[in-house]
Amino acid sequence: MFRSMSPIDRSAYGVTAALLSLAFACTPSSGAAEAPREPGSPASADQGTAEQATAEQPVSLSAKYAQYFPIGAAVDPGSYQTHAALLERHFNSITTENEMKFESLQKTEGVFDYTAADTMVAYARSHGMKVRGHALVWHRQTPDWVFKDGSGAPVSKAGLLSRLKSHIDHVVGHFKGSVYAWDVVNEAIMDDGKYRTANEAEADQRSPWHGILGTSYIAEAFKYAHAADPDAKLFYNEYRNYIPEKRQAVYEMLKQLLADGVPVHGVGLQCHLSIEPSQVQGNHGYYQTVKELETTIELYSSLGLDVQVTELDLSLYVPGIKYTPDQYYTTATFTPELAAKQAARYGEFFELFRKHRSQITGVTFWGIADDNTWLSEFSSGRKDFPLLFDAEHRPKPAFERVTTF
Ligand code: XIL
Repeated sequence: MFRSMSPIDRSAYGVTAALLSLAFACTPSSGAAEAPREPGSPASADQGTAEQATAEQPVSLSAKYAQYFPIGAAVDPGSYQTHAALLERHFNSITTENEMKFESLQKTEGVFDYTAADTMVAYARSHGMKVRGHALVWHRQTPDWVFKDGSGAPVSKAGLLSRLKSHIDHVVGHFKGSVYAWDVVNEAIMDDGKYRTANEAEADQRSPWHGILGTSYIAEAFKYAHAADPDAKLFYNEYRNYIPEKRQAVYEMLKQLLADGVPVHGVGLQCHLSIEPSQVQGNHGYYQTVKELETTIELYSSLGLDVQVTELDLSLYVPGIKYTPDQYYTTATFTPELAAKQAARYGEFFELFRKHRSQITGVTFWGIADDNTWLSEFSSGRKDFPLLFDAEHRPKPAFERVTTF
């Protein structure tokens, strides 16, 4: 089922990483040197105490959190190799950043291409890492053919449901036993608490799923996924869940799904955070506080659902402020003061996550190090530095902060 893994090209790492991997190779904690764990099992409990930071290398993040929750990272077909040293030392779970999305797996109707995803899953398995599957149903990164019939008109309800079922059957069936949790439905609710429809003002916000099937696609997707793999944990994944209206709407939706007997097991909080909340009332970032996020965790877990942080990063840019290109951060303007501020904010959120360890079953970062983050990919020229490791793969103050407790 899986292609064998190609050898990692260590020459691609650069000098710093090469030295780091040399240091790692000398420790028993290096994932490469370790006997593979049972896929899906967390790092062994005693790893946390056996591993001490040394002058050469910091404590392992996932080992430090072994008693709390697995620590994941989103990876791409390059980064799991270029960042292997960090990945294997500090993370015990991965999410494929794009490679399990609809457009990646079934670009053409009926033609499934698992090549990239399988390689990454094989890598994770051979290093004892868990794998989260992301994402089965989303309004983005889904090919147009899904929503059209042979003549280019919108496909019928029955036609779309059958495509939804076929996609989920194939994909969840393919990864059965390897992917322990799926983001089944991603981002079905808008910031104001209303369902995402096909008529949203901005084109890239529209959901053709909703346009053709109404809200029914949500329950159906969970049922199909459960039928395809009854052992997989099924998540509803959403961003900005700290906005009160959105939080409440997601809660009501999940409550109803559970009341209807729909197999939902958890809720994912994306947690694309920023260095401080917005000061602008009405801006989504206004509610981005530890307190609001705590209310969210408590509310969702009151339904008996697992909660996972699924896409964590912490941007230097404050929502609601318009930055001109000359204000974009660079390595030079990401000052020690700013790094300390970022560390403090990361620290507060991790304190919250640790406090709710009995409800939180995973914390995944959306990337590994600052040289490979979607936040820099997106706005042309606007670099961001949102992760725990810098562009040279060295731990940042934020790393120290979240591992000091
Ligand atoms: C992003 C990827 O990181 C980018 O590489 C891609 O171009 C677009 O999607 N919420 C999600 C993720 O659920 O799938 C998104 O990932 C980030 C926002």
